[in-house]
Amino acid sequence: ERTRVAVVGGGPAGLLLSRLLRRDGVDHVVLETRTREQIEATHRAGILEAGAVDALVEAGIDRVLRDGDEHEGITLRFDGESHRIDLAGLTGRTVWLYPQTDVFTDLAERAQADGADVRWQATVTQVLDRDTASPGVRWTDAEGHEHELRADLLVGADGSRSVLRHTLSEQERHTFSHEYPYAWYGFIVQAPRSAPELVYTASEHGFALLSQRTPTHQRMYFQCDPDEDPAAWDDARVWETMRARVAGPDGFAVAEGPIVERSVLRFRSAVVEPVRHGRSLLVGDAAHTVPPTGAKGLNLAIADVVVLHDVLTGWLRTGDDDALDEYGRRVGERVWRAQHFSAWMSRMLHSAAGETPFEARRRVAELRTLCASEAGRRYLAEGYTGWGPITTR
Ligand code: DHB
Repeated sequence: ERTRVAVVGGGPAGLLLSRLLRRDGVDHVVLETRTREQIEATHRAGILEAGAVDALVEAGIDRVLRDGDEHEGITLRFDGESHRIDLAGLTGRTVWLYPQTDVFTDLAERAQADGADVRWQATVTQVLDRDTASPGVRWTDAEGHEHELRADLLVGADGSRSVLRHTLSEQERHTFSHEYPYAWYGFIVQAPRSAPELVYTASEHGFALLSQRTPTHQRMYFQCDPDEDPAAWDDARVWETMRARVAGPDGFAVAEGPIVERSVLRFRSAVVEPVRHGRSLLVGDAAHTVPPTGAKGLNLAIADVVVLHDVLTGWLRTGDDDALDEYGRRVGERVWRAQHFSAWMSRMLHSAAGETPFEARRRVAELRTLCASEAGRRYLAEGYTGWGPITTR
Protein backbone atom coordinates (compact mmCIF):
# COMPACT_ATOMS: atom_id res chain seq x y z
CA GLU A 1 0.00 0.00 0.00
CA ARG A 2 1.21 3.51 -0.76
CA THR A 3 0.29 7.06 0.28
CA ARG A 4 2.01 10.45 0.23
CA VAL A 5 2.29 11.11 3.97
CA ALA A 6 2.17 8.38 6.61
CA VAL A 7 1.26 9.96 9.95
CA VAL A 8 2.19 7.74 12.89
CA GLY A 9 0.00 8.72 15.84
CA GLY A 10 -3.63 9.85 15.93
CA GLY A 11 -3.56 12.12 18.98
CA PRO A 12 -4.21 15.86 18.64
CA ALA A 13 -0.98 16.49 16.67
CA GLY A 14 -1.53 13.68 14.15
CA LEU A 15 -5.19 14.48 13.66
CA LEU A 16 -4.59 18.23 13.25
CA LEU A 17 -1.97 17.51 10.60
CA SER A 18 -4.41 15.10 8.94
CA ARG A 19 -7.09 17.80 8.89
CA LEU A 20 -4.72 20.30 7.23
CA LEU A 21 -3.47 17.76 4.67
CA ARG A 22 -7.02 16.70 3.91
CA ARG A 23 -7.99 20.30 3.26
CA ASP A 24 -5.07 20.60 0.82
CA GLY A 25 -6.11 17.35 -0.88
CA VAL A 26 -2.87 15.57 0.10
CA ASP A 27 -3.30 11.79 0.28
CA HIS A 28 -2.29 10.45 3.71
CA VAL A 29 -2.95 7.71 6.26
CA VAL A 30 -2.98 8.04 10.07
CA LEU A 31 -1.96 4.98 12.11
CA GLU A 32 -2.85 5.05 15.83
CA THR A 33 -2.12 2.20 18.21
CA ARG A 34 -4.92 2.95 20.68
CA THR A 35 -8.70 3.07 20.17
CA ARG A 36 -10.51 6.38 20.01
CA GLU A 37 -12.27 5.49 23.30
CA GLN A 38 -8.94 4.85 25.06
CA ILE A 39 -7.62 8.27 24.09
CA GLU A 40 -10.87 9.95 25.10
CA ALA A 41 -10.61 8.37 28.56
CA THR A 42 -7.17 9.90 29.20
CA HIS A 43 -7.09 13.12 31.21
CA ARG A 44 -4.62 15.70 29.94
CA ALA A 45 -4.05 19.41 30.50
CA GLY A 46 -6.72 22.03 30.00
CA ILE A 47 -5.14 25.30 28.90
CA LEU A 48 -4.84 26.50 25.28
CA GLU A 49 -2.85 29.59 24.35
CA ALA A 50 -4.72 32.06 22.13
CA GLY A 51 -2.36 31.13 19.28
CA ALA A 52 -3.31 27.46 19.58
CA VAL A 53 -6.99 28.39 19.56
CA ASP A 54 -6.39 30.51 16.43
CA ALA A 55 -4.73 27.52 14.75
CA LEU A 56 -7.63 25.21 15.61
CA VAL A 57 -10.23 27.72 14.45
CA GLU A 58 -8.31 28.31 11.23
CA ALA A 59 -8.44 24.54 10.66
CA GLY A 60 -12.22 24.64 11.12
CA ILE A 61 -12.20 23.22 14.65
CA ASP A 62 -14.12 25.90 16.53
CA ARG A 63 -16.17 24.30 19.34
CA VAL A 64 -13.60 25.79 21.73
CA LEU A 65 -15.07 29.24 21.00
CA ARG A 66 -18.52 28.09 22.17
CA ASP A 67 -17.72 25.58 24.92
CA GLY A 68 -14.31 26.82 26.11
CA ASP A 69 -13.79 29.46 28.78
CA GLU A 70 -11.59 32.43 27.95
CA HIS A 71 -9.39 33.40 30.91
CA GLU A 72 -7.93 36.88 31.18
CA GLY A 73 -5.73 36.09 34.15
CA ILE A 74 -4.32 33.56 36.58
CA THR A 75 -3.59 33.76 40.28
CA LEU A 76 -0.29 33.00 41.98
CA ARG A 77 -0.76 32.22 45.66
CA PHE A 78 2.06 32.03 48.21
CA ASP A 79 2.43 32.76 51.92
CA GLY A 80 -1.36 32.40 52.03
CA GLU A 81 -1.95 35.44 49.80
CA SER A 82 -3.30 35.62 46.25
CA HIS A 83 -1.67 37.74 43.52
CA ARG A 84 -3.50 38.10 40.23
CA ILE A 85 -1.56 38.14 36.96
CA ASP A 86 -3.62 40.14 34.47
CA LEU A 87 -2.66 38.27 31.30
CA ALA A 88 -4.92 40.34 29.05
CA GLY A 89 -3.88 43.70 30.52
CA LEU A 90 -0.17 42.86 30.43
CA THR A 91 0.03 41.23 26.99
CA GLY A 92 -3.26 41.88 25.20
CA ARG A 93 -3.61 38.10 25.00
CA THR A 94 -5.65 35.48 26.85
CA VAL A 95 -5.73 31.69 27.31
CA TRP A 96 -8.65 29.28 27.00
CA LEU A 97 -9.69 26.59 29.41
CA TYR A 98 -10.55 23.76 27.07
CA PRO A 99 -9.38 20.23 27.89
CA GLN A 100 -7.05 18.41 25.52
CA THR A 101 -9.54 15.51 25.53
CA ASP A 102 -12.12 17.84 23.95
CA VAL A 103 -9.59 19.01 21.34
CA PHE A 104 -8.99 15.34 20.49
CA THR A 105 -12.74 14.56 20.30
CA ASP A 106 -13.35 17.54 18.01
CA LEU A 107 -10.51 16.47 15.69
CA ALA A 108 -11.58 12.80 15.70
CA GLU A 109 -15.17 13.75 14.88
CA ARG A 110 -14.01 16.00 12.08
CA ALA A 111 -11.73 13.27 10.70
CA GLN A 112 -14.68 10.91 10.63
CA ALA A 113 -16.98 13.48 8.97
CA ASP A 114 -14.25 14.24 6.41
CA GLY A 115 -13.79 10.55 5.68
CA ALA A 116 -10.09 10.85 6.59
CA ASP A 117 -8.13 7.58 6.56
CA VAL A 118 -7.49 7.16 10.29
CA ARG A 119 -6.78 3.59 11.38
CA TRP A 120 -7.24 2.88 15.09
CA GLN A 121 -5.50 -0.04 16.80
CA ALA A 122 -2.83 0.13 14.12
CA THR A 123 0.53 -0.50 15.79
CA VAL A 124 3.72 0.42 13.97
CA THR A 125 6.40 -2.19 14.60
CA GLN A 126 9.15 -1.21 12.19
CA VAL A 127 10.39 1.75 10.20
CA LEU A 128 11.66 1.00 6.67
CA ASP A 129 14.14 2.83 4.46
CA ARG A 130 13.95 6.15 6.28
CA ASP A 131 16.85 7.54 4.24
CA THR A 132 15.36 6.77 0.83
CA ALA A 133 12.68 8.52 -1.23
CA SER A 134 10.26 5.73 -0.41
CA PRO A 135 10.26 5.17 3.36
CA GLY A 136 7.63 3.04 5.02
CA VAL A 137 6.37 1.33 8.14
CA ARG A 138 5.28 -2.18 9.05
CA TRP A 139 2.20 -2.21 11.21
CA THR A 140 -0.20 -4.70 12.75
CA ASP A 141 -3.97 -4.31 12.99
CA ALA A 142 -6.30 -5.29 15.87
CA GLU A 143 -6.48 -8.88 14.57
CA GLY A 144 -2.69 -9.13 14.54
CA HIS A 145 -2.37 -9.06 10.74
CA GLU A 146 0.81 -7.46 9.39
CA HIS A 147 0.76 -4.69 6.78
CA GLU A 148 3.27 -2.48 5.02
CA LEU A 149 2.62 1.15 4.17
CA ARG A 150 4.97 3.11 1.90
CA ALA A 151 4.93 6.90 1.68
CA ASP A 152 6.90 9.89 0.42
CA LEU A 153 7.25 11.07 4.01
CA LEU A 154 6.81 9.67 7.54
CA VAL A 155 5.60 11.93 10.36
CA GLY A 156 6.09 10.72 13.94
CA ALA A 157 3.24 12.24 15.97
CA ASP A 158 3.23 9.24 18.28
CA GLY A 159 3.79 10.83 21.65
CA SER A 160 6.49 10.71 24.30
CA ARG A 161 7.06 6.96 23.82
CA SER A 162 7.36 7.45 20.05
CA VAL A 163 8.16 4.31 18.07
CA LEU A 164 9.53 6.46 15.27
CA ARG A 165 12.00 8.11 17.66
CA HIS A 166 12.97 4.84 19.30
CA THR A 167 14.04 3.37 15.96
CA LEU A 168 16.76 6.05 15.76
CA SER A 169 20.17 5.08 17.09
CA GLU A 170 22.05 7.07 19.73
CA GLN A 171 24.39 8.28 16.98
CA GLU A 172 21.47 9.64 14.95
CA ARG A 173 19.81 11.65 17.68
CA HIS A 174 20.77 13.62 20.73
CA THR A 175 18.35 13.82 23.64
CA PHE A 176 18.64 16.74 26.06
CA SER A 177 16.77 15.65 29.16
CA HIS A 178 16.11 16.62 32.73
CA GLU A 179 14.40 14.82 35.63
CA TYR A 180 12.59 16.64 38.44
CA PRO A 181 12.36 15.44 42.04
CA TYR A 182 8.57 15.85 42.19
CA ALA A 183 5.35 14.76 40.52
CA TRP A 184 1.67 15.76 40.56
CA TYR A 185 -1.24 13.94 42.05
CA GLY A 186 -4.04 14.89 39.65
CA PHE A 187 -7.74 14.36 40.26
CA ILE A 188 -11.23 15.33 39.16
CA VAL A 189 -13.64 16.44 41.86
CA GLN A 190 -17.39 16.76 41.62
CA ALA A 191 -17.78 20.29 43.00
CA PRO A 192 -18.35 23.85 41.80
CA ARG A 193 -15.41 26.13 40.97
CA SER A 194 -13.29 27.38 43.84
CA ALA A 195 -12.22 30.53 41.95
CA PRO A 196 -13.07 32.18 38.61
CA GLU A 197 -9.54 31.57 37.23
CA LEU A 198 -6.69 29.10 37.79
CA VAL A 199 -4.83 29.30 41.09
CA TYR A 200 -1.16 28.18 41.24
CA THR A 201 -0.19 27.83 44.89
CA ALA A 202 3.23 27.51 46.52
CA SER A 203 3.24 26.68 50.21
CA GLU A 204 5.65 25.30 52.76
CA HIS A 205 3.85 21.96 52.25
CA GLY A 206 4.38 22.05 48.49
CA PHE A 207 2.57 23.06 45.31
CA ALA A 208 -1.16 22.86 44.51
CA LEU A 209 -3.10 23.89 41.39
CA LEU A 210 -6.81 24.58 41.16
CA SER A 211 -8.03 24.23 37.61
CA GLN A 212 -11.49 23.69 36.21
CA ARG A 213 -13.51 21.58 33.82
CA THR A 214 -17.28 22.17 33.92
CA PRO A 215 -19.72 23.90 36.29
CA THR A 216 -20.03 20.58 38.17
CA HIS A 217 -16.51 19.06 37.88
CA GLN A 218 -13.09 20.56 38.56
CA ARG A 219 -9.50 19.51 37.91
CA MET A 220 -6.92 19.83 40.69
CA TYR A 221 -3.35 18.79 41.30
CA PHE A 222 -0.96 18.75 44.21
CA GLN A 223 2.75 18.05 44.34
CA CYS A 224 3.63 14.55 45.48
CA ASP A 225 6.50 12.11 45.47
CA PRO A 226 7.29 10.65 42.00
CA ASP A 227 6.59 7.08 43.12
CA GLU A 228 3.38 7.82 44.99
CA ASP A 229 0.58 5.25 44.53
CA PRO A 230 -2.65 7.10 43.57
CA ALA A 231 -4.76 4.46 45.34
CA ALA A 232 -2.96 5.10 48.64
CA TRP A 233 -4.84 8.39 49.03
CA ASP A 234 -8.45 8.37 50.19
CA ASP A 235 -10.60 11.47 49.76
CA ALA A 236 -10.04 12.64 53.33
CA ARG A 237 -6.25 12.59 52.93
CA VAL A 238 -6.45 14.44 49.60
CA TRP A 239 -8.57 17.23 51.13
CA GLU A 240 -6.39 17.50 54.19
CA THR A 241 -3.43 18.02 51.85
CA MET A 242 -5.23 20.54 49.65
CA ARG A 243 -6.50 22.55 52.65
CA ALA A 244 -3.03 22.81 54.16
CA ARG A 245 -1.55 24.07 50.87
CA VAL A 246 -4.09 26.78 50.02
CA ALA A 247 -4.80 27.97 53.59
CA GLY A 248 -4.16 31.62 54.39
CA PRO A 249 -5.30 34.55 56.52
CA ASP A 250 -7.72 35.61 53.76
CA GLY A 251 -9.77 32.46 54.49
CA PHE A 252 -9.67 31.23 50.86
CA ALA A 253 -10.96 27.64 50.69
CA VAL A 254 -11.22 24.90 48.05
CA ALA A 255 -14.72 23.69 47.17
CA GLU A 256 -14.61 19.98 48.10
CA GLY A 257 -16.63 17.02 46.89
CA PRO A 258 -16.34 13.38 45.83
CA ILE A 259 -13.17 12.54 43.87
CA VAL A 260 -14.03 10.69 40.68
CA GLU A 261 -10.62 10.19 38.98
CA ARG A 262 -7.04 10.12 40.22
CA SER A 263 -3.57 9.55 38.80
CA VAL A 264 0.08 10.52 39.33
CA LEU A 265 1.80 12.60 36.62
CA ARG A 266 5.54 12.33 36.14
CA PHE A 267 7.73 15.38 35.54
CA ARG A 268 10.30 15.22 32.77
CA SER A 269 11.88 17.53 30.21
CA ALA A 270 13.31 16.17 26.98
CA VAL A 271 14.22 17.59 23.58
CA VAL A 272 15.32 15.43 20.65
CA GLU A 273 17.57 16.90 17.99
CA PRO A 274 17.47 16.77 15.05
CA VAL A 275 13.77 16.33 14.33
CA ARG A 276 14.33 15.31 10.72
CA HIS A 277 15.99 12.04 9.71
CA GLY A 278 15.90 11.48 5.97
CA ARG A 279 12.27 11.33 4.99
CA SER A 280 10.96 11.25 8.55
CA LEU A 281 10.02 14.07 10.93
CA LEU A 282 9.01 14.17 14.61
CA VAL A 283 6.28 16.45 15.99
CA GLY A 284 4.76 17.16 19.41
CA ASP A 285 5.64 14.91 22.35
CA ALA A 286 7.56 12.57 20.05
CA ALA A 287 10.10 15.39 19.67
CA HIS A 288 9.88 17.02 23.10
CA THR A 289 8.34 16.55 26.52
CA VAL A 290 7.68 19.28 29.09
CA PRO A 291 6.68 18.99 32.74
CA PRO A 292 2.98 19.83 33.24
CA THR A 293 3.39 23.21 35.00
CA GLY A 294 2.10 25.87 32.61
CA ALA A 295 0.39 23.36 30.29
CA LYS A 296 2.73 23.83 27.33
CA GLY A 297 2.62 20.26 25.91
CA LEU A 298 -0.40 20.48 23.61
CA ASN A 299 0.33 24.12 22.75
CA LEU A 300 3.80 23.17 21.51
CA ALA A 301 2.40 20.25 19.53
CA ILE A 302 -0.10 22.53 17.79
CA ALA A 303 2.64 25.08 16.97
CA ASP A 304 4.80 22.24 15.56
CA VAL A 305 1.98 21.09 13.29
CA VAL A 306 1.23 24.60 12.00
CA VAL A 307 4.90 25.08 11.06
CA LEU A 308 5.25 21.54 9.68
CA HIS A 309 2.19 22.04 7.49
CA ASP A 310 3.70 25.23 6.09
CA VAL A 311 7.02 23.47 5.38
CA LEU A 312 5.27 20.47 3.82
CA THR A 313 3.24 22.68 1.54
CA GLY A 314 6.48 24.01 0.03
CA TRP A 315 8.15 20.60 -0.06
CA LEU A 316 5.18 18.89 -1.75
CA ARG A 317 5.37 21.55 -4.48
CA THR A 318 9.13 21.50 -5.05
CA GLY A 319 10.21 18.05 -3.80
CA ASP A 320 13.39 19.67 -2.46
CA ASP A 321 14.40 17.64 0.62
CA ASP A 322 16.56 20.43 2.03
CA ALA A 323 13.34 22.36 2.62
CA LEU A 324 12.40 19.75 5.24
CA ASP A 325 15.23 21.00 7.48
CA GLU A 326 13.38 24.30 7.74
CA TYR A 327 10.89 22.63 10.07
CA GLY A 328 13.37 21.97 12.88
CA ARG A 329 14.92 25.38 12.43
CA ARG A 330 11.58 27.16 12.75
CA VAL A 331 10.17 25.24 15.74
CA GLY A 332 13.38 25.04 17.77
CA GLU A 333 13.20 28.43 19.41
CA ARG A 334 9.63 27.99 20.67
CA VAL A 335 10.45 24.49 21.95
CA TRP A 336 13.37 25.76 24.04
CA ARG A 337 11.46 28.78 25.30
CA ALA A 338 8.70 26.47 26.49
CA GLN A 339 11.26 24.16 28.10
CA HIS A 340 12.69 27.09 30.00
CA PHE A 341 9.27 28.45 30.96
CA SER A 342 7.97 25.08 32.22
CA ALA A 343 11.17 24.37 34.19
CA TRP A 344 11.22 27.90 35.63
CA MET A 345 7.58 27.83 36.76
CA SER A 346 8.06 24.33 38.16
CA ARG A 347 11.13 25.26 40.21
CA MET A 348 9.63 28.48 41.47
CA LEU A 349 6.48 26.79 42.75
CA HIS A 350 7.63 23.36 44.03
CA SER A 351 9.66 22.34 47.05
CA ALA A 352 12.20 19.65 46.25
CA ALA A 353 12.69 16.94 48.86
CA GLY A 354 15.45 18.06 51.21
CA GLU A 355 15.07 21.70 50.15
CA THR A 356 17.06 23.93 52.50
CA PRO A 357 15.25 26.64 54.47
CA PHE A 358 17.39 29.13 52.53
CA GLU A 359 16.10 27.85 49.21
CA ALA A 360 12.49 27.88 50.46
CA ARG A 361 12.81 31.55 51.47
CA ARG A 362 14.59 32.39 48.23
CA ARG A 363 11.70 30.96 46.19
CA VAL A 364 9.17 33.05 48.09
CA ALA A 365 11.37 36.09 47.49
CA GLU A 366 11.40 35.27 43.78
CA LEU A 367 7.59 35.03 43.70
CA ARG A 368 7.28 38.24 45.70
CA THR A 369 9.70 40.14 43.43
CA LEU A 370 7.95 38.85 40.34
CA CYS A 371 4.47 39.84 41.51
CA ALA A 372 5.57 43.24 42.79
CA SER A 373 7.08 44.20 39.45
CA GLU A 374 4.99 44.98 36.39
CA ALA A 375 7.93 43.82 34.26
CA GLY A 376 8.02 40.57 36.23
CA ARG A 377 4.29 39.96 35.87
CA ARG A 378 4.54 40.72 32.15
CA TYR A 379 7.45 38.27 31.73
CA LEU A 380 5.30 35.54 33.27
CA ALA A 381 2.23 36.59 31.27
CA GLU A 382 4.16 36.59 27.97
CA GLY A 383 5.31 33.04 28.56
CA TYR A 384 1.98 31.80 29.87
CA THR A 385 0.11 33.14 26.83
CA GLY A 386 2.71 31.71 24.44
CA TRP A 387 4.81 34.72 23.33
CA GLY A 388 2.32 35.93 20.73
CA PRO A 389 0.90 34.23 17.68
CA ILE A 390 2.37 31.07 16.13
CA THR A 391 4.57 32.25 13.28
CA THR A 392 5.63 29.98 10.45
CA ARG A 393 8.82 31.91 9.66
C1 DHB B 1 -4.14 22.31 33.78
C2 DHB B 1 -2.94 21.64 33.74
C3 DHB B 1 -1.76 22.34 33.87
O1 DHB B 1 -0.58 21.69 33.82
C4 DHB B 1 -1.76 23.71 34.02
O2 DHB B 1 -0.59 24.37 34.14
C5 DHB B 1 -2.95 24.37 34.03
C6 DHB B 1 -4.15 23.67 33.91
C7 DHB B 1 -5.42 21.56 33.65
O3 DHB B 1 -5.38 20.32 33.53
O4 DHB B 1 -6.48 22.17 33.69
